[in-house]
Amino acid sequence: MRGPVPRHVAIIMDGNGRWAEKRNLSRAEGHRAGMRALRRTVEACRDLGIEILTVYAFSTENWKRPRDEVDALMDLLGEWIHKEQQELLDNDVQVRVIGFPGPLPPETRRALDDLVKATSRNKGAVLCLALNYGGRREIVEAARRVAEKAARGLLDPATLDEKAFEAELETAGIPEPDLLIRPSGEMRLSNFLLWQIAYTELWFTPVLWPDFQPEHLAEAVEAYRSRDRRYGGLHEDKD
Ligand code: IPE
Ligand code: IPE
Ligand code: MG
Repeated sequence: MRGPVPRHVAIIMDGNGRWAEKRNLSRAEGHRAGMRALRRTVEACRDLGIEILTVYAFSTENWKRPRDEVDALMDLLGEWIHKEQQELLDNDVQVRVIGFPGPLPPETRRALDDLVKATSRNKGAVLCLALNYGGRREIVEAARRVAEKAARGLLDPATLDEKAFEAELETAGIPEPDLLIRPSGEMRLSNFLLWQIAYTELWFTPVLWPDFQPEHLAEAVEAYRSRDRRYGGLHEDKD
């Protein structure tokens, strides 16, 4: 039995540094190659009929890296926006950002805002960029908002349920990922989408992100389609 193609795929774009190291290139070159892999993957998602792609581009912990690497990543993000904007518009892709863009350089933030606004009416697919994103931080911020509402008398804590809590997360309105892919051989989540992946299917590959090809995505999707998602029940019943 083969199930449907995943509606929402999330990817931890990892392994850029190791890819560069193997080639005696700078880590920034690795990130540039990672940017090309992102472009290929957005196209491959379209070809496969995947509606939503969420990519982990920068974590709340990645600020620990040397300043020049962080700067290079921010510059690349600006460059990516500049290069891809037209293509995303032409392909009817809506861009969303999850995370806490506050500490990003102001010009990057402006470019991101413009991209999000310019694509906000697109309906073909969604590309969700996780930038300065951390799952724990997201949950704490949501809890804070809930507490504030309760303190102002706008919410009765007794009525709080999972659905109401989810509405306070960065991903409000986006269905949870069906499939999470982590390249580079690491078998961890690194603080990505902790709430949302409760029942997501996981797929790991040793391939480094800059080497990730449409065939790898197709392989992950095929593996996904052969899985039996039980959600704690029996067979494929969700309820
Ligand atoms: C992922 O690649 C990119 C970001 C975290 C921004 P890495 O830079 O983590 O690559 P490795 O894990 O060092 O190979
Ligand atoms: C996760 O990769 C973050 C992104 C890909 C943006 P890391 O390279 O930061 O994760 P760890 O440090 O290996 O857990
Ligand atoms: Mg890494």
